[in-house]
Amino acid sequence: MSGLIPKHFIEELIARVDLVELIGSRVPLKKHGREYKACCPFHGEKTPSFTVVPEKNFYHCFGCGEHGNALGFLMKHDNLGFIEAIEELADRVGVEVPREQTPGQRPPPSDALFATLEKAAGFYRNELMNTSRGKDYFKSRGISGETAIKFGLGYAPDAWDSLLKLLGGNDADRARLLQVGLIIERDNRSGHYDRFRDRVMFPIRDARGRTLGFGGRVLDKGEPKYMNSPETELFHKGRELYGLYEARQATRTLARLLIVEGYMDVVRLHQAGITYAVATLGTATTPEHLARVFRICNEVTFCFDGDRAGRAAAWKALENSLSQVREGRQIRFLFLPEGHDPDSLVGEEGREAFEARIKQAMPLSEYFIQHLSSQVDTRSIDGRASLGEMARPLLERIPAGIFRELLVDEVAKVVGLSRDRVSLVRGATPAEPSQAAQTERPRWSGTPTHRASAGRRNLVRQAIHLLVHYPEIADKVVLNPALVTLERPGVPLLIELIEELGRRPCANTGALLERWRDRPDVEHLAKLAAQECLVDAAGAAKDLAGAVQHLGEEAARLRTDLLSKKSGLSEAEKAELQGLLARKLPVGHGA
Ligand code: UTP
Ligand code: MN
Repeated sequence: MSGLIPKHFIEELIARVDLVELIGSRVPLKKHGREYKACCPFHGEKTPSFTVVPEKNFYHCFGCGEHGNALGFLMKHDNLGFIEAIEELADRVGVEVPREQTPGQRPPPSDALFATLEKAAGFYRNELMNTSRGKDYFKSRGISGETAIKFGLGYAPDAWDSLLKLLGGNDADRARLLQVGLIIERDNRSGHYDRFRDRVMFPIRDARGRTLGFGGRVLDKGEPKYMNSPETELFHKGRELYGLYEARQATRTLARLLIVEGYMDVVRLHQAGITYAVATLGTATTPEHLARVFRICNEVTFCFDGDRAGRAAAWKALENSLSQVREGRQIRFLFLPEGHDPDSLVGEEGREAFEARIKQAMPLSEYFIQHLSSQVDTRSIDGRASLGEMARPLLERIPAGIFRELLVDEVAKVVGLSRDRVSLVRGATPAEPSQAAQTERPRWSGTPTHRASAGRRNLVRQAIHLLVHYPEIADKVVLNPALVTLERPGVPLLIELIEELGRRPCANTGALLERWRDRPDVEHLAKLAAQECLVDAAGAAKDLAGAVQHLGEEAARLRTDLLSKKSGLSEAEKAELQGLLARKLPVGHGA
């Protein structure tokens, strides 16, 4: 995707943009010598450690380590995609984003499609204003005119071709309407008809407020109750959240988000003053949704109806959340009383009572234990054993860290086993990096871990994987000088990483990738960064030391063999061999 925009254009754009002005429009900056300072928008703090360095067009935070350029800031702060952020910057500078068109490739989502959607949204809005049917419906559901305007609500008239007539004047127009899912081709291909007819319309907007698609509700009876735009080039249900744009409009820095199930719930909650409510679009919450949400705030509460369907959806949401669990992130679950959804409940009891429920929502850990316990008879050994079995694969999805440790403890308590029996296996001897460091699924204690050489073939890769996740552990590594002679893929990169990071430490993965941005291995590193690392920093340091030591010894052995068999050694080689042999002597042995 990004290949379509020339790299030099992006670089020039970043160089041209006034970073102080850009960030200053979102975060209050104070001049401080040659720099500007603010309280960091990416983590909570009272004293400013967020710093903008105008001459470097770079910002960084001493508190949380966040850093980057104008692009990175927009992506993170405004929750924009890469392309969206470039477009936003180009808008600011007042230039067009050039596209490199490769033959045979489909043209990128163009402004024309957004324009079509915007015109349709305008049409539906007008229809809501100018006719009574939609207006009466929203009135009957307690939606004010102000709220309707805020969400751009509309009404699609009861006709087969009202939108088609208005916006489908020629073939190109119709092609666009079709592309964004607003019209449907007739079976016999004799023409098209409007997708949304006699429905109240909820435009679904992206982070910049552009309409991507719609949800439309029937007014009285009919199937389906809600019809959504199909997946299109612009609209991906697993990514978008209804109400997120409106929530961000309401509050610049959101402290929390409430994820509910329905369009009406979002609209009604906002109207009641709970302007941090968003909804998935008739789908389960995906890890992608959550990753996005956690770029904006650290506190998420899922809200589910108190019925059976709600509970099933909640557990699904929990499962999909596990990969996103981290220290500092809060995920909680709110179950509403049977027969209620947020819309009805907030209408009945008002904002404060509803917010009190949010405050008391159940932490993920508690729901985790409670749900699993409800599946078995925890009084019997069998029941507790199967609880442990069920918990295992779920616990494995949680990235290594304090949170997982605590949850393992909790499960151990319920199951009545020592935590060692429940816990994930951590590698064995230092020379044998843990299985968990590999990309394959981690193993549990009790399961025999294979100690064969199979694991060793990947030692280089494992070591790099650990370094990418924990760049800060590099300085503790002792490099065997013989390692440079080991001819194996990845060894030069491993050495480069250890030496470079030892000289100039890197705070985190992001910083590491930034530094490697223009080096040939950056893709490889990014891939490893995207792979889960299942050990914590201490475990990683231990594993890394073991791997590097093992590789060093292997390199030394191979090199010693080679040099001892070779005839006519040069002076340098003689010295090297002597060095190798000297090192090989075990310490305190034979001396
Ligand atoms: P609900 O059936 O719970 O409806 O669907 P609701 O949100 O309470 O709506 P009202 O109060 O009856 O107007 C919850 C969500 O599931 C999706 C929609 O996103 C809806 O908001 N859904 C539901 C669909 O996508 N299609 C459907 O047919 C029904
Ligand atoms: Mn409802």
